[in-house]
Amino acid sequence: MDHQHPPLNLHFIPYLAPGHLIPLCSIATLFAARGHHVTVISTPCYAQILRKSSPSLHLHVVEFPAREAGFPDGVELMSAANSLEDARKFHYATTLLRVPISRFLEQHPPDCIVADFFYPWVHDVANNLRIPSFAFNGFSLFTVAAMESVRSNPALDSDSGPFVIPDFPHHIILCSRPPKMATAFMDRLLETEMKSDGLIVNSFAELDGVEYIQHYEKGTGHKAWHLGPGCLAAKIGEERGKKSVVSEKELVSWLNSKQPKSVVYVCFGSMCRFPDKQLYEMACGLEEAAHDFVWVVPEKKGKEDESEEEKEKWLPKGFEERNAKKGLIIRGWAPQLLILGHTAVAAFLTHCGWNSTLEAITAGVPMLTWPVVGDQFYNERLVTEVRGVGLEVGATEWRLIGYGESEKLVTSDCIQKAVRRLMDGGDEAQEIRRRAREFADKAKQSLRDGGSSHNNLTALIAHLTRLRDTR
Ligand SMILES: *[C@@H]1O[C@H](CO)[C@@H](O)[C@H](O)[C@H]1NC(C)=O
Ligand SMILES: *[C@@H]1O[C@H](CO)[C@@H](O)[C@H](O)[C@H]1NC(C)=O
Repeated sequence: MDHQHPPLNLHFIPYLAPGHLIPLCSIATLFAARGHHVTVISTPCYAQILRKSSPSLHLHVVEFPAREAGFPDGVELMSAANSLEDARKFHYATTLLRVPISRFLEQHPPDCIVADFFYPWVHDVANNLRIPSFAFNGFSLFTVAAMESVRSNPALDSDSGPFVIPDFPHHIILCSRPPKMATAFMDRLLETEMKSDGLIVNSFAELDGVEYIQHYEKGTGHKAWHLGPGCLAAKIGEERGKKSVVSEKELVSWLNSKQPKSVVYVCFGSMCRFPDKQLYEMACGLEEAAHDFVWVVPEKKGKEDESEEEKEKWLPKGFEERNAKKGLIIRGWAPQLLILGHTAVAAFLTHCGWNSTLEAITAGVPMLTWPVVGDQFYNERLVTEVRGVGLEVGATEWRLIGYGESEKLVTSDCIQKAVRRLMDGGDEAQEIRRRAREFADKAKQSLRDGGSSHNNLTALIAHLTRLRDTR
């Protein structure tokens, strides 16, 4: 810590979805670890969790206006939403936070604000207070750069089907267009993000690649600071309502009973719900692939009070009995970092949410990619084509939101083939494994003294200190 300059006073405003909140709070702890005064503005439920898991962070609690938006009291997280309508209501509720948060910022102006891009109004508040503000969107910079390229090429709008990302360092083909409604919303957010003084990225420069960092900065005139991976920086506690039916102890002993590099881990994050017939295909695919698996399914699946008939809708008859040894189904929440870090795990079938992707990268586990919404389709390209640490399963339907009906099924055959391609050995699979290990090392290196994220943080702190001291 530099004794000539008093510590910075920073306010972090994370969005209330686990995939946004957890990584941004992890990044917040990095500033605190360098001796700066960090306040996270959060709602009661998360404040309680942060208080326990991250004592270096100060907290300012604002009430979440659940009732005003039509939710029962106690709802504070986006993952409580189960429909598009709920998601809209939830987002509406977060817009109501503007009043109490602005008031707090005015009364306690910090040296810098770091806010999720789902709060686009923050940058206006910061401008009025003449405080620098930084945006965080939870995406990789590769993805932001891709979105920016698509956004600035309206000609792409005219038809559907596969397209090449225009003006891009690599020749990248996307299998389908993002739904218009989603891009319209996203584009507005990306635009207001430009009002900020820079972008905070939960990734490390080697993963996004200097070519994409330069491409982004040249194309937008906006600076990106790579400070992650957050999941290596700090473990932030989380709570998911009910606990999973499998205890950590049972899970570890199950994994311990397996050969090294023999298990496929299947999980689609906290926001994705597949229709029963898709889950059915997934079950068949996993069974046909004949490798051991841990499969995380949403909590409501296969509850005791569900009738046999109800259960059969998503699981083939006798599936659990036949796979009693080979497979472990976890209903609800699973300790993902623990699973990915276990030596028995050889592959991760994932929706490519950035949070999960980064966890797989840091654990050195190759991915089988199956994107569902939003940034996940871009992340898939980075994982497969650009960095070569995964194989695609073949999902092409870009959904508007993680739940609800889908039109195109990913067949059991696609799933089975992808699993085998990665799990049955062979040169291609070996090469993917080798690169996955290499990126895991780079991830760890990036946060150490002299590593790229460590250096980016040092540079950002120096920049902020200069801004404050010359104000
Ligand atoms: C995100 O990351 C944290 C820790 O880095 C992890 O515990 C959590 O399960 C991840 N996924 C989501 C969707 O929150
Ligand atoms: C972050 O680190 C990368 C890799 O060392 C470097 O290219 C980039 O310029 C740094 N960014 C900033 C804003 O200092």
